[in-house]
Amino acid sequence: MEFQWYPGHMTKAIRQMREDIKLIDLVIELLDARIPFSSRNPDIDKLANGKARLVLLNKADLADDVHTDKWIKFFESKNIVAIKIDSKNNKISSMINKAVEKACAEKIVANKRKGINRPIRAMVVGIPNVGKSTFINSYAKRSVAKTGNKPGVTKGKQWIKLNKNLELLDTPGILWPKFEDKTIGLHLSFVGSINDNILNIDDLAFELIKYMREFYPGKINERFDIEGDEDIVEEMYQIAQKRGCVMSGGRLDLEKASRIIMDELRAGKICKVTFDRNYE
Ligand code: G4P
Repeated sequence: MEFQWYPGHMTKAIRQMREDIKLIDLVIELLDARIPFSSRNPDIDKLANGKARLVLLNKADLADDVHTDKWIKFFESKNIVAIKIDSKNNKISSMINKAVEKACAEKIVANKRKGINRPIRAMVVGIPNVGKSTFINSYAKRSVAKTGNKPGVTKGKQWIKLNKNLELLDTPGILWPKFEDKTIGLHLSFVGSINDNILNIDDLAFELIKYMREFYPGKINERFDIEGDEDIVEEMYQIAQKRGCVMSGGRLDLEKASRIIMDELRAGKICKVTFDRNYE
């Protein structure tokens, strides 16, 4: 499988983020709870150097809880506060507020000592499709009050005042995934973070079934109500048959079946699943 990405956009996004990060105290990094390693751009450690950090394992409603909890422990071992969330659920504010306080504890004490009395300024960052806009909308719902431009500080930036202690830059920072190996590309494709068009959907569904067999045995058969087969392609034909994926002339349509498999996986209809398990 060949993967490609667009470095032109990446350079521009990173430049913008360097500027934005100067304005803030706290970096809120959204990761996909199903792939916390693959959805993370390691450059963020350099970019966010010296800032308070909070990791949100988003889409936790779709991820395997056992592994999400292990990822939380992993980040804690690196002294980064991490929690799991489902941004589509509107009741996340108090949980986030607590985590923000924990992540900024030192900064809050230091500000007090220096007599600085202003809210913590935060910014949300993450790769495309990880849920940045959904999170901002969900978190800010109660109290969206754009504070507008503040001369000398924000220059053209819009801030959302979340409470008296916290302001959020209303434009998230876009990071790009880093393709250090093919597994990262594959896992990003599994969750739909890479446009399907650059991958062969049949190959992708094939790889997914292979993964599910090893880590979530029986779940594919259960979902599609098939007997299964040692041969993966044969199993894909069984799914095509079950779901009526037939081309004119009566041949089974593997491409259509593959798209159904991927769509249902991504929507969480097969089971809660985690692909990255390299937290040790
Ligand atoms: P971005 O700004 O980082 O690019 O991501 P965005 O918020 O646009 O979210 C991308 C997709 O992920 C959206 O789905 C959104 O609903 C979904 N999403 C975000 N957070 C969560 C979460 O915690 N759990 C689940 N299950 N889904 C989440 P979409 O299909 O593109 O749009 P829509 O049909 O939901 O409107």
